[in-house]
Amino acid sequence: MAVRSKSSKAWLNEHVNDHYVHMAQKYGYRARAAYKLLEINEKDKLIKPGMILADLGSAPGSWSQVAAKLVGKNGQVFALDILLMDEIDGVSFIQGDFREDGVLAQFESLLDNRPLDLVICDMAPNMSGNAVTDQAKSFYLCGLALDFAVNHLKKGGNFLVKVFQGTGYQEYLAAMREIFDVVQTRKPEASRNRSSEIYLLGRNKR
Ligand SMILES: C[S@@+](CC[C@H](N)C(=O)[O-])C[C@H]1O[C@@H](n2cnc3c(N)ncnc32)[C@H](O)[C@@H]1O
Repeated sequence: MAVRSKSSKAWLNEHVNDHYVHMAQKYGYRARAAYKLLEINEKDKLIKPGMILADLGSAPGSWSQVAAKLVGKNGQVFALDILLMDEIDGVSFIQGDFREDGVLAQFESLLDNRPLDLVICDMAPNMSGNAVTDQAKSFYLCGLALDFAVNHLKKGGNFLVKVFQGTGYQEYLAAMREIFDVVQTRKPEASRNRSSEIYLLGRNKR
């Protein structure tokens, strides 16, 4: 039988005792990440009935669940992930690698030129353990998400993206400031303190 490492035992303990894991299970969200978006949305009122939005890196689907509920019947959520995601009412999903031109083209044809009110991006690459490569891979995805936001957000639209503080952070922040009137940082309670992840919120696309 495989012996669990100290760190995987610690992760299991933390997960079992985690308040947000319990809440997600109780309220039918597919991941505790739902509470990050719910908290940011509570503060910033990003998602409103009737909105059209894109959710990049959507699997297993808790952000899409939250978004679909909030945009309601007159809104629409377009979601994409490299992994398969089970269906959610009100969410149109494409499975594919966002780095591939063909996948982007497929996603864009699904949008059918509809301008977006909001782009939310929680994409994170599979971590290899090599901090330098992981950071570079993460900002590569964030860069693609920002390009996508530039091309598809309507004027005045908003962009919420997960980034990891470290190399590339300041440059990315500067790039966002070129595009949005205001760029704010958000670290929701449900985001673990030991994680360097932080959310950047670009408001009011110029
Ligand atoms: C933290 S999870 C997202 C959780 C999601 N927001 C939720 O609430 O369920 C990050 C996601 O990014 C996806 N991802 C990573 N690299 C990707 C890529 N190149 N293209 C598309 N999705 C990618 C992963 O498959 C993973 O599902």
